[in-house]
Amino acid sequence: MKFERATVIGAGAMGSGIAQVLSQAGIEVVLKDVKDEFVERGLKNIKRMYDSRVKKGTMTQEDADRLFSKVRGTTSYDELGEPDIVIEAALEEIDVKLEIFKTLDMICPAHTLLASNTSALSISEIAAATKRPEKVLGMHFFNPAQVMKLVEVIPGVKTSEETIKHAMALTKDVMKKTPVRVKECPGFLVNRLLFPYMNEALWALQEGATPQEIDDMMVQFGMPMGPLALFDMTGLDVCAHVNKFLYNEYGPRFESSPLLDKLVAAGCLGQKSGSGFYLHEQGAVPQKGEAKKTNPKLEEIIKELNADGKVRKSSKKVDAHRIILPMFNEAMYALQEEVVTPADVDTGMEFGCGMKGGLLKIAQEKGLEWCLTEINAHHKELGERFRPSWYLKKLVRAKVENFSELEPKQMAVR
Ligand SMILES: NC(=O)c1ccc[n+]([C@@H]2O[C@H](COP(=O)([O-])OP(=O)(O)OC[C@H]3O[C@@H](n4cnc5c(N)ncnc54)[C@H](O)[C@@H]3O)[C@@H](O)[C@H]2O)c1
Repeated sequence: MKFERATVIGAGAMGSGIAQVLSQAGIEVVLKDVKDEFVERGLKNIKRMYDSRVKKGTMTQEDADRLFSKVRGTTSYDELGEPDIVIEAALEEIDVKLEIFKTLDMICPAHTLLASNTSALSISEIAAATKRPEKVLGMHFFNPAQVMKLVEVIPGVKTSEETIKHAMALTKDVMKKTPVRVKECPGFLVNRLLFPYMNEALWALQEGATPQEIDDMMVQFGMPMGPLALFDMTGLDVCAHVNKFLYNEYGPRFESSPLLDKLVAAGCLGQKSGSGFYLHEQGAVPQKGEAKKTNPKLEEIIKELNADGKVRKSSKKVDAHRIILPMFNEAMYALQEEVVTPADVDTGMEFGCGMKGGLLKIAQEKGLEWCLTEINAHHKELGERFRPSWYLKKLVRAKVENFSELEPKQMAVR
């Protein structure tokens, strides 16, 4: 399938990034929002992205002008033309998305693929708002979309293999990004794996580790930034909201420390509010290696929370493996459910959140049996957050030491 024309619905942070990527790939793009001012803001953002490429010397002014001219803004569905694909990046509300997809289905040509960039809503439910569910799918980009390489490509229950094949080819060959096919599940792959890890960092804080200790440990382990810095960057309120959703879907593996809600209630939302786990001076750009100041409110809340002595503590000092193992265990659950292949776990974590060497390197370095023994020990001491997946147990019983020993068909995602 040839992709010559595309529409992006929603000219916000994600929509403008996606429109930039599509236009840079030579595709004519219509960017639609609900008000002229939002369309204008989106177009300005895209112009800024091209300007920065020229400034960095990765693109000539002439090419930037030519590619930017491929993007046209509108507020009207009448001006979408005949797109080969529509990528929706509007508000994360199911009713808004259902209405958009119903309309798109009525006005777009029969061959048009309809993709949603939803972070968490059901692709199958969105597809059911159309009469072409076989042509509807999830294409989950990461923020900033014009920079991050990973795109999770998510089939709904009725999405055809052909649609997925075309979306994978568009992502890889045209947009030059890295697609990973992910079976529809709450949080898809990357967010699902990140939250048990971020939650464990909170519990470790409650056991006495400092934010800087935890973050330094995880950066040394191979993460581009520590989990607490990531909370501050993403917004503690946004994280609390996503984690509640995942907890409702998956249960106690996603239990978060009450610390998070307490900080949100105290107005400590991260960088955007000036304080989260750290203090953030408005406008100051943190320098690499610079020690950050811990938010004094954090210590106060931890003292208050620990006063009743109910927090279960590990008998061992917190180390990087303790924080990463819940992520690894969740990856085992995802493999158990055939959500992805082992290779895609690594690709997802490397390209979606910059984890050097991917996640499953722990299995390579330490062995699966060691991972299970550690997870079991933490399960005994710390409870349900560490309940091991039966897939991991099965692999250990089968004496599998490494994922590369498995036949491709045993790793296939259905
Ligand atoms: N921000 C992220 O980190 C991120 C990452 C991956 C996916 N997403 C998902 O991408 C989507 C957009 O997120 P965002 O951060 O760009 O939000 P945003 O608030 O920056 O932009 C949303 C835009 O959609 C517009 N909009 C709302 N209703 C519309 C409609 N009916 N038709 C057309 N436009 C409409 C709004 O006016 C706004 O300009 C959400 O579904 C979000 O969950 C966000």
